[in-house]
Amino acid sequence: MMAYAPARGRFITFEGGEGTGKSVQVRRLVSRLRELGLGVVATREPGGSPGAEALRDIILAGAGARFGSAGEALLFSAARIDHIDATIAPALRRGDWVVCDRFFDSTRAYQGVAGDLDPALLASLERVAVGSCRPDLTFMLDLPASIGMARATLRRGAAPADRFEREGLAYHETLRRAFLAIAETEPWRCVVIDGRPSEEVVADAIWRVVEARLDDALPHSARVR
Ligand code: TYD
Repeated sequence: MMAYAPARGRFITFEGGEGTGKSVQVRRLVSRLRELGLGVVATREPGGSPGAEALRDIILAGAGARFGSAGEALLFSAARIDHIDATIAPALRRGDWVVCDRFFDSTRAYQGVAGDLDPALLASLERVAVGSCRPDLTFMLDLPASIGMARATLRRGAAPADRFEREGLAYHETLRRAFLAIAETEPWRCVVIDGRPSEEVVADAIWRVVEARLDDALPHSARVR
């Protein structure tokens, strides 16, 4: 099975609500890993491959919403299939690490919990779209929804809110609880990180987890302190 082949890179995902600092932390972790000489692919969802990026614009404009949560989950899953085939799986096979801003936990939280999608449908979609290409480690960046939304609004400036940013505070609190629940159910994969401290403090907390959990895959020098 590919997942435990010695040459395979490691797959790390970042999840959380709006404005929790995922993209900043993805960038920081990617540079830290590259400093160790590792090959790293930084990517995101929806998107991360030409086919999936084409779907991204359609989904975020809200075109999927008219098909309900199931239709939207299908669109995200279609984008994910292309992303895995074209970007993630080839990188892991080369031995590169992959750090991804959002992955299937976002479908579980947004379409599954907040969108009230049938869990059986969600599980089948996940099986079809993701198969065995599952993250080795997932960071759930956690913030009260009011703080996250305020940060996201500030960051957006004059740009229009996308389909999900337009939803209210209660929706975003539901998402927060959904991510925390996933982390509680799959503690071997997920680690909740408090998103309130400064970027540096959050980045250090994340790095400590990477060292503790993925130590066997890090170059030896990272372990000599
Ligand atoms: P993006 O601009 O990447 O937002 P963020 O900076 O918050 O990551 O937009 C992605 C949006 O799509 C975000 O609101 C979450 C949503 N989404 C889903 O609803 N389901 C999914 O499976 C994924 C990957 C994202």
